[in-house]
Amino acid sequence: MKNPQLYMERCLQLAQLGLGYVSPNPIVGAVLVRDYRIIGEGYHQKLGGAHAEVNCINSVSPEDKALIPLSTLFVSLEPCSHFGKTPPCTDYILMHGIRQVVIACSDSSAKVNGKGIQILRDAGVEVIEHVLEEEAQWLNRRFFTNCALQRPHIVIKWAETADGFIGSRMQRTKISSIHTDPMVHQWRSQEDAIWVGYQTALVDNPRLNVRFAIGKNPIRIVFDRDCTLPPSLHLFDQTQDTIVFNTIKSTSKPNLTYLKIDPENYVQQIIDNLESFDISSILVEGGTQLITKLFDMNAWDEARIIHSPMTLDQGIQAPQLPSQHQMIEAYTSSPDRISIYKNLDR
Ligand SMILES: NC(=O)c1ccc[n+]([C@@H]2O[C@H](COP(=O)([O-])OP(=O)(O)OC[C@H]3O[C@@H](n4cnc5c(N)ncnc54)[C@H](OP(=O)(O)O)[C@@H]3O)[C@@H](O)[C@H]2O)c1
Repeated sequence: MKNPQLYMERCLQLAQLGLGYVSPNPIVGAVLVRDYRIIGEGYHQKLGGAHAEVNCINSVSPEDKALIPLSTLFVSLEPCSHFGKTPPCTDYILMHGIRQVVIACSDSSAKVNGKGIQILRDAGVEVIEHVLEEEAQWLNRRFFTNCALQRPHIVIKWAETADGFIGSRMQRTKISSIHTDPMVHQWRSQEDAIWVGYQTALVDNPRLNVRFAIGKNPIRIVFDRDCTLPPSLHLFDQTQDTIVFNTIKSTSKPNLTYLKIDPENYVQQIIDNLESFDISSILVEGGTQLITKLFDMNAWDEARIIHSPMTLDQGIQAPQLPSQHQMIEAYTSSPDRISIYKNLDR
């Protein structure tokens, strides 16, 4: 097979379309190739729905159906081998007589962990591994963080001025440009939840929804120790799921859950509680105190910094990125500059 990377690249593009819709499942894309022609393609579109391999095989046109057993299946993640919300993909591949499967990376979750590849090989299928492996692992970083650390994938985000401030004291200050807002809102739509600190909720009164991009709203998270945040804040408007961790009460109204936790080490307790709400990734949008606590606990996976050309002269200092980081990407969203880092110490 010439140029397997080309077809795997297409699998990764397809997988990306499922981002924000399949959590806590991984995002996966698949293509079926015969004589250098893609005869089918698919991706995992929604939680509980068919997996990428099934959508790919089912997409083949009636006139190409006879070519399925003669084709190579490319898939961005090892096919599943267990009954979950849907039957095993390995069964579906074997049922269609496919003899060659190319995989980007293996699925390290306890339920699969090499079993999918083994089942295919035991049935005589040629399995080729590690094609664009690193790219596929990065694409599914949320899923792999969940598997490795048994906690949600934590994405830290802030905007800072050219002189290193994230805002003025006790006054809402817009730092990133309005041209950067659609990108930030797309980031919001890609994670299950969004978390802000108490002071940010109080001073900025953010909506934390997705209105400048297309996608679903994340679950809003805040820690309000004594339930003293004003009920008039957008956070409490019950327009989207919101969880208020606190030390007073556990109650629930439509879209608004109060959950009582111990005041000791509350940041860790919040992280530990997120899984019970099916939250497998979270975007932390400041402020500095909350982000610094997460950095100090080494509870972060990615940091996305928006560098604005504006200056403030005084205000709240921006967080300090821990030294164990690697820059992944840098680009311009004029007039802002965006830098994306990953945590190397996990
Ligand atoms: N440019 C940006 O990207 C950006 C993003 C977000 C916010 N901001 C700005 O950052 C500022 C806020 O940041 P910040 O670092 O001061 O605070 P923060 O991180 O938003 O708030 C978290 C802190 O609030 C404290 N807190 C005080 N009373 C609390 C209570 N009753 N319940 C829970 N926590 C309580 C907590 O301290 P203890 O745990 O010690 O109690 C905690 O460390 C705002 O002015 C906002 O405009 C800028």
